[in-house]
Amino acid sequence: MFNRNLEAAINDQIKHELYSAYLYLSMSAWAESNNMPGAAKWLGKQAAEEQEHAMKFYGYVHDRGGKVVLQAIPQPPAEWTSLLDVFEQVKEHEAKVTGLINRLYEIAVKENDYAGQVMLQWFISEQVEEEKNAATIVDALRHVGTQGAALFMVDRWLGER
Ligand code: FEO
Repeated sequence: MFNRNLEAAINDQIKHELYSAYLYLSMSAWAESNNMPGAAKWLGKQAAEEQEHAMKFYGYVHDRGGKVVLQAIPQPPAEWTSLLDVFEQVKEHEAKVTGLINRLYEIAVKENDYAGQVMLQWFISEQVEEEKNAATIVDALRHVGTQGAALFMVDRWLGER
């Protein structure tokens, strides 16, 4: 029997993952408009990955015989002051998502939902990767500043994703 508290919390998480996709797509559009096609590609791929995360939770609810109830997704911001600003916010957002995943795990532990704990372990590892990637890019952008040839090179590097 699928634990109702975990079911409700996973339904919330589906919204958070879709918001992440929406946020990164908005950032991708900003990068595109500001002549940073590499960053736009990186962020677009990240948006697609967030949709996959949402669908992983969506599938899991159904696998357990639960009910998916989709929620309203807030409007993301559309303006940033620089690419560094964008990636600082990616980093901050991923730290927030890690907190949400940890909270889900705590619920699964409290409710003795072992299958839920196993499923969530994938997300715990994924968040280590997500936070590391964002931190690496923030570090690179802090070195290069907000314009010039070095920023062009970082954009090229991001486009290799
Ligand atoms: Fe779905 Fe970037 O965490």
